[in-house]
Amino acid sequence: MQIKIEPAEHCRGALSVPGDKSISHRAIILASLTEEVVGIEGFLDAEDPRSTLVCMQALGVKIEQQGTLIRVHGAGINGLREPSTILDAGNSGTTARLLTGLLAGRPFYAVLTGDSSLRMRPMARVTEPLKRMGACIDGRESGRLLPLSIRGGGLTPLVFHSPVASAQVKSAVLLAALQAGGRTEITEPGISRDHTERMLQHFGVPLRWGKQGEIILEGPVKSLKAEQVRVPGDISSAAFFLVAGALAPAGELLIHEVGLNPTRTGLLDVLDRMGAQITILNQQENNGEPVGDILVRGGKRLVGVDITAEMIPRLIDEIPVLAVAAAFARGTTRIEGAGELRVKESDRLHVLSQELGKLGAQIEELPDGLTIQGSRAISGGSVSSHGDHRIAMALAVAGLFAEKETIIDGVESVQVSFPGFFDRLKDITR
Ligand code: S3P
Repeated sequence: MQIKIEPAEHCRGALSVPGDKSISHRAIILASLTEEVVGIEGFLDAEDPRSTLVCMQALGVKIEQQGTLIRVHGAGINGLREPSTILDAGNSGTTARLLTGLLAGRPFYAVLTGDSSLRMRPMARVTEPLKRMGACIDGRESGRLLPLSIRGGGLTPLVFHSPVASAQVKSAVLLAALQAGGRTEITEPGISRDHTERMLQHFGVPLRWGKQGEIILEGPVKSLKAEQVRVPGDISSAAFFLVAGALAPAGELLIHEVGLNPTRTGLLDVLDRMGAQITILNQQENNGEPVGDILVRGGKRLVGVDITAEMIPRLIDEIPVLAVAAAFARGTTRIEGAGELRVKESDRLHVLSQELGKLGAQIEELPDGLTIQGSRAISGGSVSSHGDHRIAMALAVAGLFAEKETIIDGVESVQVSFPGFFDRLKDITR
């Protein structure tokens, strides 16, 4: 499916964005491990979290959905059942990796697969530590790629130094550690998003941190305490509107109830350094997650910045739209230490340089980053999302400020994280 984006003169109005994708996955999984009914409000009703929901149903959990409202009838950790069908994670790396961790502890057999993009993404980062804990996992290339077959149970704890700052890896090991007999410790080279840790605590799991910052979990944990969850708006979805609002020649945009977890707000720090006019209002906390409204004003030229390796985990999913901000900024933006982007839903470093280049941006692909020479104007043109939701949305933001119209192919991919994205974009530029 294609969409045409016309140049916009302003971005203005108020909107909310769909629920946080990372929190929605975790809410379904952890609620399933309680032994009561858990209500989830503000669930992201999109393809990725739905993959997790359907997989948990296949594991015997009763889950009712009415749009963004969910009722999970927790089965308890020991209540999960051997699935009679292959579990399909679709396009969702979070589903695949977190469920591999959960299934590593269950004494039954399960097979997990995904779509053609997910079947190319690295799984050894989770299967390797989980095998060390005692799970029997096999798959293509000895368990490096989906489909994976898992026969879990009988786990021993692990002292795990993750080679990558990845919340999916950390969460997979934490879900296995819940089921292992003894003390698991986890460290990572940079701090990745901590939604799993926060939600485990919300559900009564006594997680702690050691002197070196290692996460400590004593297993086995018998059951999780049922608590309601209210999912905040996804800052990674708000990101497209924050950049659009900052790049707009005029106007003011207010985005309601966005998650402001400090492990996710790198984008706000970078936009601030680029000179964007952003204000946070109405800060509060919901189920252990900080939330607030974000106001962004246009009418000011941004400036290029350096984005270095240690900043990457806090803005990993926002690089596509930050590259768009950089394409219009004064001066050069250098992004380094972002090699992880090559193993996302697409090779985002390659795809960004190729597709933003087609629109007239001056962008150079580096082995682990990008160099972007900002300019006042880019031409517009015809581009492809390469089946990647965040590339589709970033290109749409670029198209708003191009000289001519932009045609984007493969926009059905936005269903993965943000159904309704293009309607919201139309509303704010009307
Ligand atoms: C996610 C973690 C990140 C992020 C992804 C969602 C999560 O991936 O890019 O969109 O929900 O845990 P990595 O763990 O691979 O960095």
